[in-house]
Amino acid sequence: MNKNRKWYTIIIISMLLLIVYIGYFFINSGRGLERVDNPNRQAVDSGIMNNTKDEKKNKLPIPPLLEDKNPEEGKAEFDLNVQYGKKEFIEGQETETLGYNGDYLGPIIRVDKGDDVKINVANTLDEPTTVHWHGLEVPGEMDGGPHQVVDPKSSWQPYFTIDQPAATLWYHPHLLHKTGEQVYKGLAGLFYIEDEKSKELNIPKEHGVNDIPLVVQDKRFTQDGQIPYELGMRDVMDGFKGDTVLVNGAIAPELDVKSEVVRLRLLNGSNARAYDFNFSDNLAFYQIASDGGFLENSIEMHEVSLAPAERAEILVDFSDYNTGDKVVLRDGSYEVMTITITEESDSSSSIPEELVDIVQYDRDDVVTTRDFVMSGMGPMVAINGKQMDMDRIDEYLNLNELEEWVVTNESAGMGMMSGETPHPLHVHGVQFQVIERNGGEPPLNEQGWKDTVMVESGEEVRLLVKFKQKGLFMYHCHILEHEDAGMMGQFLVE
Ligand code: C2O
Ligand code: CU
Ligand code: CU
Repeated sequence: MNKNRKWYTIIIISMLLLIVYIGYFFINSGRGLERVDNPNRQAVDSGIMNNTKDEKKNKLPIPPLLEDKNPEEGKAEFDLNVQYGKKEFIEGQETETLGYNGDYLGPIIRVDKGDDVKINVANTLDEPTTVHWHGLEVPGEMDGGPHQVVDPKSSWQPYFTIDQPAATLWYHPHLLHKTGEQVYKGLAGLFYIEDEKSKELNIPKEHGVNDIPLVVQDKRFTQDGQIPYELGMRDVMDGFKGDTVLVNGAIAPELDVKSEVVRLRLLNGSNARAYDFNFSDNLAFYQIASDGGFLENSIEMHEVSLAPAERAEILVDFSDYNTGDKVVLRDGSYEVMTITITEESDSSSSIPEELVDIVQYDRDDVVTTRDFVMSGMGPMVAINGKQMDMDRIDEYLNLNELEEWVVTNESAGMGMMSGETPHPLHVHGVQFQVIERNGGEPPLNEQGWKDTVMVESGEEVRLLVKFKQKGLFMYHCHILEHEDAGMMGQFLVE
């Protein structure tokens, strides 16, 4: 009886959603909201592409390394200002943006393992924000999650010691229900950790020359070049996806390199879009690092998929190319960035096979097993049937105890209209190990340290996690519209 009524309600709600969704789909079908994987999209957006492409070269901007104000060895101090900006993404059009120490995105914070780091965050905005260190293992109160609000015109001074291996991490806002908008407007930056290993490995290390940061995001520009964050039904369901891809804030930029091995540090800094990165002419490359640091061995690949918030460091060998040759970095068949070989290199670089040793957790040491069931659609997305409540702690964990987390995605999607509903799960304050994907061994590039893992509809992923920091932390879907809708929970490590 009760069960029947529950099913009846579910069916009615689903049908209503479907009707609204179909309506929305038809209303928008004339407005050019094409999916990024539509090969015709560049033609559709030709106005934008042409503006920036002709005449002067549209060079890839390289985010600067932020100055360390503390000259003392083993200590570092940085100033980070959250500010309003204006940026010309499209020639002749000024876009209202947000940025750290600038108009859009932020500088790269680079620290060494073992450093005592202090950061002076000043919020010059008229609205609150937070600065979360995505991937960093620091105590809960330094994490910059939704509890560490930095009010308008005030500041926050987190401090922590870097106690994890070399990695490409990032920072971004984490204000409750507002993360999607603030990140979309431009608040995101990279955070590099270096250590003995990263310095001694025979890999490219020259920032902006052969060690290139690539923050990839998608935007939806209005006729006058603005990027309003207004969610339609489709955005609420699937997350906010744009029709134009930017790298470091530039549309279809060009990168000049020498004919040598080049290291690309890829961050998917998009709100909701996942990418399948590959190169024109099917060029092979080598993944050397995942979210939390170097892999044990470099992996030869032809395509690397990155869910929102995921990172990959890859090495690309251009030494067989001639001056003037071009290679295009693509997402599927969509052209993201053109790489031009402009100079012969005299250095004979190679791709190292062995990188670092990763001590694999032993499943026999697991003390607690927990389930995380991701479910629902649009405004109903939930984890374990619950939506985020700042006053509720969902899980209690012990410091330094190994746990197995079983993560499943039961969001069915909306049949033929919406298809799948993927959920990339991210856990704060830890780098974990993926031990199983759908009952089998995870792909090689998921066998290093991870903090975000893609879980497609119907999938089950098993993680081994061990927390080395105390405090209150978040776990959530990194499709920011899902997170903002409440697809997030809290755990306390004691
Ligand atoms: Cu990248 Cu909870 O965040
Ligand atoms: Cu995080
Ligand atoms: Cu999600």
